Amino acid sequence: MKPDSQNVTDYTNNNTIFMVWDFKDGLEVKRVFNKLCKLIINLNNSANVRFPVSRASCVMGIGHDAWVRLQLPVPLPKELVNFEPIIGDKHTAVSSKGDLHFHIRADTTSICYDMAAAVADVLSAIAVSTDETHGFRYWDSRSILGFVDGTENPQGADRELFSMVGDDDPAYTGGSYLFVQKYIHNLTAWKQLPTEQQEKVIGRYKENDVEMADDTKPANSHIALANVGDDFKIVRDNMPFGNMSTNEMGTYFIAYASTFGTVHKMLTNMFIGSPAGNYDRILDFSTARTGSLFFVPTFDMLDDFSSD
Ligand code: HEM
Repeated sequence: MKPDSQNVTDYTNNNTIFMVWDFKDGLEVKRVFNKLCKLIINLNNSANVRFPVSRASCVMGIGHDAWVRLQLPVPLPKELVNFEPIIGDKHTAVSSKGDLHFHIRADTTSICYDMAAAVADVLSAIAVSTDETHGFRYWDSRSILGFVDGTENPQGADRELFSMVGDDDPAYTGGSYLFVQKYIHNLTAWKQLPTEQQEKVIGRYKENDVEMADDTKPANSHIALANVGDDFKIVRDNMPFGNMSTNEMGTYFIAYASTFGTVHKMLTNMFIGSPAGNYDRILDFSTARTGSLFFVPTFDMLDDFSSD
């Protein structure tokens, strides 16, 4: 990982808190935001020193409207826009507001909780939290659908290549596009599908996590549509979550990418279909409740913002 980048390359950890915050209307937010940038640098440095084996981190992403309201540098990162919904015949990738996104990871919930609390202490004067999702490692890194999630993620040095902006946008090299969607699964319907049918939805075998051969894998399986070529990859850090009292079981989809275009292509394949109409069958069991794009600045950029 480049030394001054936020932690966009790491593998998933045991525990995660995802938070989305929106600024309140009519307030001056800049001063508190500057303080927050300092806090994010502090939290990450402190975690590295105090809990080196926990691989704890707190990554902050900034949405388009927040970037403009905070008068952060112009021109903006080339692809930072408000995410536009992608509307297929049957399923829609909705767009939801989001000024700031926090991706907090650690091996224990205590560290995640303390980091989230520290962020909330600073932010609550000027912003409200619109979503907080607590994700956990489920067995051998399975999604709540029972399939291992993350196998075909880039490995090693490729993680940096595919997650960080390169030299084509020099002011933002080392930053990253962060895209998130909170999916709720229809587990009742999913559990009624026999395992062989579930495997056809994903395109992999359930127990041993082996990919189906090309002549067996259905064209509308998740991995047939999400794979857009070896040169176009993203780093996914999805986490399952579940709440029995609300009966909401889901996947928090989170991707870091050197270019948002790659994520957009995957979403288009999934929701519109490739060819159009051949949409991703996973969507018949998964509803996207949110969808927001953020930019993750490097620590150097956060340092600049904090002293503006
Ligand atoms: C409904 C929520 C989702 C679930 C439960 C899910 C789960 C999975 C699983 C189980 C795999 C196979 C193992 C692996 O390689 O990770 C996979 C692969 C993949 N997923 Fe998803 N996924 C979801 C949404 C998405 C979205 C929204 C995108 C892109 C925008 C995406 C992109 C990918 C990619 C690129 C692969 C690897 C394809 C390959 O090269 O084989 N996924 N996903």
